Amino acid sequence: MITSPKRSLKILITAGPTREPIDKVRFLSNASTGRMGYELARQALRRGHRIILISGPTHILPPKSKGAEFVPVTTALQMRDKVKKYFKHCDCLIMTAAVSDFRARKAIDKKIKKADFKQSFSLKLVKNPDILLEIGRRKGGKVLVGFALETGDLIKNARAKLKEKNLDLIVANQLTPKSSPFGDKKVKAVLINCEGTVSRQSFLTKRQLARQVLRKTEKIFDRCGAIAKR
Ligand code: CTP
Repeated sequence: MITSPKRSLKILITAGPTREPIDKVRFLSNASTGRMGYELARQALRRGHRIILISGPTHILPPKSKGAEFVPVTTALQMRDKVKKYFKHCDCLIMTAAVSDFRARKAIDKKIKKADFKQSFSLKLVKNPDILLEIGRRKGGKVLVGFALETGDLIKNARAKLKEKNLDLIVANQLTPKSSPFGDKKVKAVLINCEGTVSRQSFLTKRQLARQVLRKTEKIFDRCGAIAKR
């Protein structure tokens, strides 16, 4: 690897939720729409970077322009495989995906019927791998950007994630009764870099936030990033 100041980066972006099957027709998931990751992909292309977008199921059309590659996945395990495969050839990973932290230990191989149980039944869940944590342990000089969603103690929890996952930047969002980072609405994020600098953003559209995140990522890259082997 060689370090380089001015660049067109190859950026790996993850987006959307993952779906963890329970049976043939049901799954565990979350409210992520994928907007943030797809907006980052679009803005990165506009800024002259190449992107690989690994996405869980969403209703958004992936970018089709030159320099864009799209990799659809469903589960957290599939996302982990693809992130590991493509990260090798990228300079930077921006992980916006809302990866499910758990999955059913064993998905049932048919539709569960009402007659199969009486009043209740138990579903055994097991932990999914933390993709970003695993990548952070072997980042090899590349730039890692994570997102954090918190319902309390935003800065403290986001800082802990930044450190634990060996990130260069974390974008922290708070879910409150009045504001949610899911969907098309404006978001009020806090950006924290690995030097501990906290930058509180005003309410921004996801496009504006994407540009802000990319500007910071490029700056970090210019300071200390390493170009990946293509
Ligand atoms: N992430 C990941 N793999 C997981 C869970 C999260 O790679 N199994 C990534 C997310 O894409 C995000 C960051 O880790 O960039 C933080 O995710 P978040 O859901 O805020 O937190 P968790 O690490 O899951 O921790 P907790 O559930 O305790 O808040």
